Amino acid sequence: MQVLENISLKPYNAFGIDVKARYFAELHSDNDIAAFFSALTEERMPFLVLGGGSNMLFTKDFEGSVACIRSKGIVKLMEDEKHVYLRIAAGEVWDDVVKYAVDNGWGGIENLSLIPGNAGTSPVQNIGAYGVELKDVLYSVEVADVIARHYRAFRPADCEFGYRTSIFKNRGKGRFVITSLCLKLDKQPVLKLDYGDIRRELGKAGVKDVTISAVRDIIIKIRSSKLPDPSIIGNAGSFFMNPVVSADEYARLIKKFPAMPSFKSGDEVKIPGAWLIEQCGFKGKRYGDAGVHENQPLVLVNYGSATGKEILVLAEKIIKSVLKKFGIGLEKEVNIF
Ligand code: EPU
Repeated sequence: MQVLENISLKPYNAFGIDVKARYFAELHSDNDIAAFFSALTEERMPFLVLGGGSNMLFTKDFEGSVACIRSKGIVKLMEDEKHVYLRIAAGEVWDDVVKYAVDNGWGGIENLSLIPGNAGTSPVQNIGAYGVELKDVLYSVEVADVIARHYRAFRPADCEFGYRTSIFKNRGKGRFVITSLCLKLDKQPVLKLDYGDIRRELGKAGVKDVTISAVRDIIIKIRSSKLPDPSIIGNAGSFFMNPVVSADEYARLIKKFPAMPSFKSGDEVKIPGAWLIEQCGFKGKRYGDAGVHENQPLVLVNYGSATGKEILVLAEKIIKSVLKKFGIGLEKEVNIF
């Protein structure tokens, strides 16, 4: 393991923001992870773990140590009649894992195709798309507890999962470093086709034999047509979460804004943040190199040399405007540093 000093994080974050890390190391194995965090706890230095850097916005240099987890490996731990259990090293690229599962005919994560980032960061925000969340297929998460200085495993019930959140994003932040996860996948896949455009797009493409592979292909097609590719235009996916309001609040809103789309979420109602932002006139708007994506206004983009602060100013402007028009407080999904 090599520790470098004053390294630009531009290649390591999907927004492509040019800030520096005081110390930086790529960790390729569990041994590297152990060595790096032992040194840290002795020196009490602030640290940050990067997976694919796909869910962060840097607004200033990081005066601590940044670890980029690069450990690789997908191992079939066990299987029974119905399921296979895969142990996945944290540094695996998430979409490579999805491809591996689909190529083997194992179902459960095909709807999560093409989500940027690494496997190890997928539990942090409980990644989700097209009607599936990571928690639905997760069996366990192995972490290094850098405070208590030991390894432990979490079962999903202990992860405090919610919509785009978990213990790792909240009270476990700065304490638990995810080293691997175990997924429980279906040997007889159950297709989940009810979200949004999936069925329509399958029909349009003339797909008769709907397999997990066909679902993966269609989701890749839908995502590529709507969402900007971070390797071309800097972005961190949805910058905001879709707000969830009470039934009473919804009744008030729909009276005032009859065209407002919504989705039921238990006893509450989820309102598409994209719609709220579009209604406030921000869709496709550009301020210097900071902008709001033209197809998906929930996504903020860096057209080239925007700073993290400029993106943040735009985010705050949007939050203020949505609050003023709808009385709804948008919450950021992206981690700000
Ligand atoms: N909409 C608009 N204007 C637009 C785009 C969308 O009004 O320009 C409205 C429409 O009513 C549409 C609704 O927003 O039906 C929902 O849009 P979409 O299906 O594109 O999904 P989303 O709710 O905006 C969420 C996730 C995405 C995920 C998609 C598909 C969050 C914060 N985002 O977006 O996740 O890919 O669903 O499942 O929940 C991410 O987290 O980075 C991410 C991209």
